[in-house]
Amino acid sequence: MAEKPSGPKLHEPEWLQRSLDRYLAWGLVFMIVLIVAFPLYRLREPSLRADAKASQQRSYEKTGRDLFATNCASCHGTQGTGGTAPTLNSKQFLTTTTDNQIALIVTGGVSGSSMSAWSLDYGGSLTDEQIRQLVTYLRTLEPNAPSVPDWRTGAKAP
Ligand code: HEC
Repeated sequence: MAEKPSGPKLHEPEWLQRSLDRYLAWGLVFMIVLIVAFPLYRLREPSLRADAKASQQRSYEKTGRDLFATNCASCHGTQGTGGTAPTLNSKQFLTTTTDNQIALIVTGGVSGSSMSAWSLDYGGSLTDEQIRQLVTYLRTLEPNAPSVPDWRTGAKAP
């Protein structure tokens, strides 16, 4: 404790001084806890975000699969394996088409064909979010998609 300057003695009882010292010490402890905790939290943050992204992805896949079964499978086949419309579960289709292209076709449809515009904005029944969920679902087929070079005829995988 630093030497007090000499002068008129202030009224500062010893118990008050001790109590102030205690408050100061606890303040210091809490400050150190915060200083240590913040970087630790920052370290964990990216993995928390990755977990959130993965869980969002899973929920989109599941909703997309259900949407596909309800709205698309009648023409494109169960799980996109073909029928009267192009086979979407085709390596050739999925690897040459971007998410954006798929979303645009589903949104606006293909004129002169039975592929209608699905977006609410174009008289369809799906929201933009649901179309994104469909795209997410179709993307999950890509790693195991069979080779179907003539996917546009709705051909089945051999
Ligand atoms: C009534 C039948 C029918 C339904 C239902 C249908 N489609 Fe289609 N779809 C078609 C036909 C036919 C084409 C091919 C259009 C063309 O290019 O001549 C097509 C094309 C597509 C294409 C482009 C494929 C390519 O190779 O160019 C995508 C992607 C697609 N549909 C996705 C969907 C999704 C997702 C749904 C459900 C929301 C859906 N379709 C529902 C008939 C249908």
